[in-house]
Amino acid sequence: MLMFERIREDIDSVLERDPAARSRLEILLCYPGLWAVWFHRVSHMLWNAKMRLAARCLSQLARFLTGVDIHPGALLGRRFFIDHATGVVIGETAIVGSDVTIYQGVTLGGTGKGHGKRHPTVCDRVFIGNNANVLGNITIGENSRVGAGSVVLSDVPPNSTVVGVPAHIIYRNGERVLITDPHDVKDPLSDALIALAARVEELEERLGGARQPLDPFTAEAAERTAYREELDRASDFVSMGEGI
Ligand SMILES: CC(C)(COP(=O)(O)OP(=O)(O)OC[C@H]1O[C@@H](n2cnc3c(N)ncnc32)[C@H](O)[C@@H]1OP(=O)(O)O)[C@@H](O)C(=O)NCCC(=O)NCCS
Repeated sequence: MLMFERIREDIDSVLERDPAARSRLEILLCYPGLWAVWFHRVSHMLWNAKMRLAARCLSQLARFLTGVDIHPGALLGRRFFIDHATGVVIGETAIVGSDVTIYQGVTLGGTGKGHGKRHPTVCDRVFIGNNANVLGNITIGENSRVGAGSVVLSDVPPNSTVVGVPAHIIYRNGERVLITDPHDVKDPLSDALIALAARVEELEERLGGARQPLDPFTAEAAERTAYREELDRASDFVSMGEGI
């Protein structure tokens, strides 16, 4: 009974979230992302019942049918929606909260370095755009959004939007976040940016020093202008005298 209730709430949540969905029947028949979640619920039960091989086999059957590879050990919350399904990979120690939406090609994976809990924790109501990679034992905070194609390698605070490779925050609590200091750029190129910024600063300082010799020239030009203005005033005075 509970199973049917859960299936119904899954279908209703798709109806709410996907404007392309027209009816419950259509969702039941045409949403492989939902089938993948339902397969996972059974394979996860088998996994917990220590029927590990059966669980793995079932999850591989699900992968074959839906294109979604969810390890049976992963913990998935309620109303999890995988839109378009294909190419999604969810690792063994991943934890996904309730009302999470992810698109095709998303990986909740490990970095290949860790043991134990090595996959992400995705909190409630997170949205992850297509082909984003969320890697390592990191946490994506509640209500946060991950841009399509991003590679997230560190924790994302709640109510934030991150984009890029590697991902950085562009919105937090509804406010735009702009990077103005190159030290804040978390990127393989950030060292080059920091070095470039330091070089520009150094050149500006040197240019400031180089302006000194220009000042006498400016002073001389100002003197010449003042002298010319003086001459003009004198000639005006003479013309006025001639007019009398
Ligand atoms: C991340 C996302 C949710 C942000 O949406 P938003 O709040 O409307 O953000 P904005 O459009 O205001 O973009 C803000 C900045 O981030 C940049 N940006 C947005 N999404 C980006 C992305 N995925 N990768 C890199 N940069 C991105 C924009 O170019 C913009 O930069 P600018 O201010 O320098 O011009 C959205 O862009 C996204 O990626 N959605 C996923 C959609 C998806 O997966 N669809 C699948 C359909 S099948």
